[in-house]
Amino acid sequence: MRHASVLLVALAFGACDCNESADTESSTATTPPEPAPEPLRVLEPPEVNMDKVFLGRRLYHDPILSGDGTISCATCHSLDHGGAEPRRSSNGIRGQVGPINSPTVLNAHFNFVQFWDGRAATLQEQAGGPVENPLEMGTTFPEAIARVQTDAWYVERFASIYGGESPITKENITDAIAEYERYLVTPSPFDAYLAGNQDAISEQARRGHATFKEVGCASCHMGVNVGGTMYQKMGLIANYFEQRGGELTDADMGRFNVTRNEADRHFFKVPTLRNVTRTAPYFHDGSVEDLGQAVRIMGRVQLGRELTDAQVTDILAFFESLNGELPEHARLPEAETPPSRATAPAEGAAPAEGGAPAEGAEAAPTAG
Ligand code: HEC
Ligand code: HEC
Repeated sequence: MRHASVLLVALAFGACDCNESADTESSTATTPPEPAPEPLRVLEPPEVNMDKVFLGRRLYHDPILSGDGTISCATCHSLDHGGAEPRRSSNGIRGQVGPINSPTVLNAHFNFVQFWDGRAATLQEQAGGPVENPLEMGTTFPEAIARVQTDAWYVERFASIYGGESPITKENITDAIAEYERYLVTPSPFDAYLAGNQDAISEQARRGHATFKEVGCASCHMGVNVGGTMYQKMGLIANYFEQRGGELTDADMGRFNVTRNEADRHFFKVPTLRNVTRTAPYFHDGSVEDLGQAVRIMGRVQLGRELTDAQVTDILAFFESLNGELPEHARLPEAETPPSRATAPAEGAAPAEGGAPAEGAEAAPTAG
């Protein structure tokens, strides 16, 4: 397994809610009882090829991949919004509104599958989706490739990294973007704490971590991403959709849309909770703006319990400790900002960097 070493490190330190690690070596009768095994794991950035990362970084921020030159990956996955979007659901080209809230790209590498319903196996496979999705970037790869070929910066980079006759291919574009995404991992104070530094997070965050495990959140939100290891039903104990109200949408069917298996209805990939305080609104439907409210709903519909105010605020403090730093070269340098790519009069401004979204609204399906 790819993360075997991470697991070992985490097992070595993570299980220790106690104080002196030296004492835990010996298992004499005087050793305090072992705390419950730690279901969360220390995040360790994967090895990446930085040349590909720099290429992928510009592609990610460049509306050149969209049909009318107005939308980039960063429009819906802004580094300034925890890698997600501030809207309930996504706006694609020409202001079209998608059916579902965009998850964060930060640490997505650690998710066992991509998308809420798991329909892409890898980041590279995923990256092909939005480009050709009519409601998102609304183009085709042959068209996108033709545009990329007119930009000397890309021509040079693709040639030096991938070589060969015509290196600007769908395969290589998605490979570079996926490599950039693999670079977008955010080690947090909580990781320092898990690795043995008791003082890395506040006492309240430590309490929140304990509560998170005690009440049962960690039975689904586990592993290195505090999520991203399994599908689970939204509304395991109580009917979420009834409590939410409104019409059921296709997006609400979750994994069922992929398998057509009745047992998968309303199942979603358990999302990561890293950087979650930055990625409002919440849930696949983006229906909840307040994170405390999302936590209470989880208590009710997934665990059948009413969390107290104190429990909720402790869990929120724990979430704060999961907020990480972007790696040093995550942001596109000013000098590489792409020129305006807009081909048709766009309703909003062309979002070149960081993803100021084009405001606009009519409804339409499926996103990626
Ligand atoms: C118009 C908005 C929009 C654009 C543009 C867009 N995305 Fe997304 N992205 C979404 C939405 C919405 C989802 C969730 C769709 C679903 O699960 O059905 C998503 C899902 C993802 C995921 C899966 C994360 C996870 O945890 O499942 C990744 C990774 C991702 N997008 C990367 C990208 C990349 C790379 C690009 C550019 C090539 C891009 N996106 C362009 C809106 C967008
Ligand atoms: C039975 C599995 C399960 C349990 C237990 C569970 N969750 Fe979740 N959680 C999920 C799933 C599945 C989703 C996605 C649901 C959706 O979007 O419709 C989710 C979503 C969330 C979100 C929204 C994240 C986002 O980016 O939109 C938060 C916050 C959250 N859970 C916190 C908690 C907390 C806190 C607890 C404990 C009180 C908890 N969860 C217990 C499965 C679970």
